[in-house]
Amino acid sequence: MATSPTRPEDEPGDLATRLMDQAMGHYFSAALRTAARLRIADRLAAGPRTPEQLAAATDTHAPHLRRVLRYLAASGIFREDASGAYQLTPIAHQLRTDVPHSLHPAVMMITDELFLRTSAGLTEAVRHGDAAFERLFGAPFFAHLQSDPAKRELFDNGMASLASPADDAVAAAYPFPATGTVVDVGGGRGGLLRAVLRHHPDLTGVLFDLAPPLAHHLLDTDDLKGRWRTQEGDFFASVPQGGDVYVLKHVLHDWPDDACRRILRTCRAAMADGSRLVVVDCVLPPGNAPHFGKTLDVTVLAIFDGRERNADEFAALLSAGGFRLTRVLPTAAFPSIVEAVAE
Ligand SMILES: C[S@@+](CC[C@H](N)C(=O)[O-])C[C@H]1O[C@@H](n2cnc3c(N)ncnc32)[C@H](O)[C@@H]1O
Repeated sequence: MATSPTRPEDEPGDLATRLMDQAMGHYFSAALRTAARLRIADRLAAGPRTPEQLAAATDTHAPHLRRVLRYLAASGIFREDASGAYQLTPIAHQLRTDVPHSLHPAVMMITDELFLRTSAGLTEAVRHGDAAFERLFGAPFFAHLQSDPAKRELFDNGMASLASPADDAVAAAYPFPATGTVVDVGGGRGGLLRAVLRHHPDLTGVLFDLAPPLAHHLLDTDDLKGRWRTQEGDFFASVPQGGDVYVLKHVLHDWPDDACRRILRTCRAAMADGSRLVVVDCVLPPGNAPHFGKTLDVTVLAIFDGRERNADEFAALLSAGGFRLTRVLPTAAFPSIVEAVAE
């Protein structure tokens, strides 16, 4: 009788290795952070470099650096050539600081102790059904950042970097009107608004957020002169009136349902009947297939007691806030676009 081929991942030894490799994922984050801190990708931009050359340029220990690079290369981040020199790969290219859509600030943010300490509090968050962050740092995330401007800047730069590929994807995927005003609520440094205004030359925009990200926003460019303004405020109290389209990008996922309903009602109060709300967040698919939204979901759970949602959960939330979900559009990046109309 023919036996069915045994898949390597079914072999007990390999299963054990796989589990342990996953359990040691924090060392992978640490290796990635080391490469980002030492700006290894920038140093490989001109061509391959040996670990000795990289160590000399970064004042580090060459044999240790080589082992960290070998570990990263096993996951496709950097590649060792036949001479023992390391070179960039497409994924490592995104770690350069001087390229469009650089993810260097996002990696520096997400591997910072702000997030590492919070991940270590995940079990307690699961035990109590709340955010790990507040228990560890003594205040909710955004309140804590108020008292630590350096971390606030790390977060704003990290978010702008993480969001950058999605900003263009959303501006391209969503049929914004040709004219009128887009209000980006909790718009951070304004990367999305900048992309939208560039795609639609007759639109104007309002960037609404707390003061810190507005202080170093991205809208002050020659091509966008006279087409935007910033407004500081609290989206639990009020948001600017008179917009034609309102955007909430990676805002609702920061909050539990009751807080989201409050934000939605504040937006609804500023909006005319029939005007559109564009929510940009992950929309979780059913099933167990890998999806970046599931990684992000556990992250926002621990940091904010926030959550990523599926389409039905968005429909219910929007309905409670005075909106009707009209459609969900995919983008070329990880988030989707959830369109709703003010009823
Ligand atoms: C996860 S970031 C998303 C930023 C941006 N929309 C993006 O996609 O990159 C959430 C934003 O909500 C802002 N925010 C938090 N609480 C706020 C409040 N009470 N009022 C206004 N903005 C707030 C934060 O300052 C931050 O810029």
